[in-house]
Amino acid sequence: MIYDVAAVRAQFPALQAGYAHFDGPGGTQVPAPVADVVARTLVSPLANRGRVTAAERTADDIVVAARRAVADLLHADPAGVVFGRSMTQITFDVARTLAATWEPGDEVVVTSLDHDANVRPWVLAAEAVGVRVRWAEFDPATAELSAEAVAEVLSPRTRLVAVTAASNLLGTRPPVRAITDLAHEAGALTYVDAVHAAAHVPIDAAALGADFLACSPYKFLGPHCGVLAAAPALLETLHPQKLLPSPDVVPERFELGTLPYELLAGTTAAIDFLAGLGSGDTRRIRLVTALGAIETHEDRLRERIEDGLSQLDGVTVLSRAAHRTPTLLVTFAGRGPAEAYAFLAERGVHAPAGASTRWSPPAASVSATPGRCASASPPTSTTATSTGCSRASGSSWPRRSGWAPGNGTDCAGSPIATS
Ligand SMILES: Cc1ncc(COP(=O)(O)O)c(C=O)c1O
Repeated sequence: MIYDVAAVRAQFPALQAGYAHFDGPGGTQVPAPVADVVARTLVSPLANRGRVTAAERTADDIVVAARRAVADLLHADPAGVVFGRSMTQITFDVARTLAATWEPGDEVVVTSLDHDANVRPWVLAAEAVGVRVRWAEFDPATAELSAEAVAEVLSPRTRLVAVTAASNLLGTRPPVRAITDLAHEAGALTYVDAVHAAAHVPIDAAALGADFLACSPYKFLGPHCGVLAAAPALLETLHPQKLLPSPDVVPERFELGTLPYELLAGTTAAIDFLAGLGSGDTRRIRLVTALGAIETHEDRLRERIEDGLSQLDGVTVLSRAAHRTPTLLVTFAGRGPAEAYAFLAERGVHAPAGASTRWSPPAASVSATPGRCASASPPTSTTATSTGCSRASGSSWPRRSGWAPGNGTDCAGSPIATS
C-alpha cells in the first residue's frame, strides 16, 4: 500500500514556509486537522472529568477516546494508558515509583544505545536506593546492540531492563523481543522507549514484550505530551506519589494534576490522521498498514540519501545496523556541527545541530532521518542538503565505550545529529 505523499504534505501548514524539517528531537510538524482539534477543544466548554454537566462529559470523553487511540497505536490495553507531560517526566515518575520496591543489592540494566531519558531516571532512582546500575554496550563498529550484550549484564538480582526500540541518534532497532525475553527469564521488568520508533514503524507493545512502553505524540504528528502503556494489573501493584484527593485508581493515579484535554484530543486526532493513511476494518489495522507504508516510503528516502552521501568525499555514515529507522549519523571530514547547521539552514533545511553537553567527540557527525514522518517532509533536492543536522539530543553515546563517531576515521570536528 502506498499513499499520496503530495496530498498528505499539503495538510501541513508549517511546510508552506518552504523549509525541509530534519529535526527528530524537535518532533514532527502538525497537520491542520490536529491543530484544529486542539484549538476547538480549548474553546469548547470544559471542566474536570465527570458525567453530570456537558463540560464534564466533554473532558471525560476526550480522555477515554485518547486512551483508546493510544491503545490502538501501541496495541495496548486502554485501561493501562497513562498521559503525562513528556516521556522524560513519565519515566522519572515510574523510576521513582519502582525504585521504592527495590532493595540494596538489586540491579537495573540500561544501555549505551538509549536516549538519556531512558537512562538517567533509572540511574538516579537506583542511586537513591543503593541499587547497582549495569550497562549493556552497543558495538560502535556495527551500531548494533545485541541481546548477548544485555545477557552479559543480567543477573538474578536484575529488577528492570530499560531499552530503546530505536535509537534517535543511529536509528538502530535492537532485538527488543529477544532482550525482553532474557529480562523476563531473569525475573526483571522491561521498560521500552518507543519515542523514536513510534514515529517510523508500527509498534506492538505486547509483541515487544514491553512491561512498560513509553512514547511521545509530538514525534508522530501530535501535540507535546508523553504517553505510557502498561498492563493495568502491573500498574495496580505500583503506588506513585500523588495528592490525597486525586483518584487512586489505575491509570489515573499515575497522572498528576489535571490532564491537558486539548493535547489529549490532539493526540487522538494525530492517531486518526495516521490511521487515515491506512486501510482496514479497525483503527489498529489501519494504523499498522499506514505505518508500514510510511516505513516503506521512508526507507526509500533513506536509500536516496545514502546513495547521495556515498558519492561525497569525506562523508562517513555511522548508522550501520541491519535493522534501523531511516536515521543516519554521518560525519563530514573537517567540518563542525555549527558549520554544517548553518550551511544547511541557508539552504532551507531545518536541522539544528550541535554537540550535546555530555558528548563532544572529535568528529563532525550528522544524524539524519530523511522523511521522518515522510508524509510531511518533502524529499530534499540535493544530497548536500538531504542530510539535515540536529542536536545529538539526549544520547548517552558514547558514555562508556570511549568510542566517538569518526574516531579512527579521517573526520575532525564535533558531532551533529539529525533525526
Ligand atoms: C529516543 C528518545 N527517547 C526519549 C526522548 C524524550 O522524549 P520527551 O521529549 O517526550 O521527554 C526522545 C526525545 O527526543 C527520544 O528521541
